[in-house]
Amino acid sequence: MDAFKTSRQPQRDPDFYDADYEDERDTTEVPGGEKLQKVLAQAGVASRRACEEMIGEGRVTVDGQVVRRFGARVDPSKQVIHVDGKRIPTAPELVYYALNKPIGVVSTMEDPQGRPSLADYVQDLTALRLFHVGRLDTETEGLLLFTNDGELAHRLTHPSFGVQKKYWAKVPGPIARGLHRVLQKGVDLEDGLARVDEFRVVQEHGQQALVEVVLHEGRTHIVRRIMEQVGHPVIDLARIEFGPVKLGRLKPGTIRALSLKEVGDLYAAVGM
Ligand code: URA
Repeated sequence: MDAFKTSRQPQRDPDFYDADYEDERDTTEVPGGEKLQKVLAQAGVASRRACEEMIGEGRVTVDGQVVRRFGARVDPSKQVIHVDGKRIPTAPELVYYALNKPIGVVSTMEDPQGRPSLADYVQDLTALRLFHVGRLDTETEGLLLFTNDGELAHRLTHPSFGVQKKYWAKVPGPIARGLHRVLQKGVDLEDGLARVDEFRVVQEHGQQALVEVVLHEGRTHIVRRIMEQVGHPVIDLARIEFGPVKLGRLKPGTIRALSLKEVGDLYAAVGM
């Protein structure tokens, strides 16, 4: 099998292949586009050489087609590229960030009342036409994603895609043993039933408890309203995960670019 592969592999002379390779079955080639291995390397997948090998091994698809040839040229802004089934963000103009929104900051780019707003944290990035993915209450801190990838942002916030968010809430204790069952069954709110996907007590200290709530909906004040309804009004609230992205050790008020893996995982979470 290996010998077969080797004998079919062309000599590494990309320019020669650029000029002469023609595969009628492959509709992904973009004449004058960028070399696929360069695009992958620039996206941070691996070195150009390693990317060439991945291409040769059939691990790379462009618009759903496996592309094995050396010197393949693509349009990184328009074509959808996957490596090992995971989408690679290749469009140079698309960016993805995570902010740890501090308490007291409104989830808008500008506040008419002059309160601290998100613009204070993404000022250097405004030329990129970033927008925030969903909102957090002014009094909630934690993970807020930013991107200029409209389709991804839409899917991440649309309830039909069911992306889970994880919160830690400080609430008055003690927590009754069966509360997770009540919350998973659903709590009646004024705008309908609200169910949590997961609930657990992280810590209990005297009259206070730290609880973890996972849900995949985004109605206003949803965690606060659910916990209030079951007799544990939220004292402090933080979002610690958004789908596959974790807040980690990001300090309040700081922003970081998402990794290639995180962006690929976000795409996968919403079927892109
Ligand atoms: N639920 C809330 O109550 N507040 C938030 O900011 C997010 C979810």
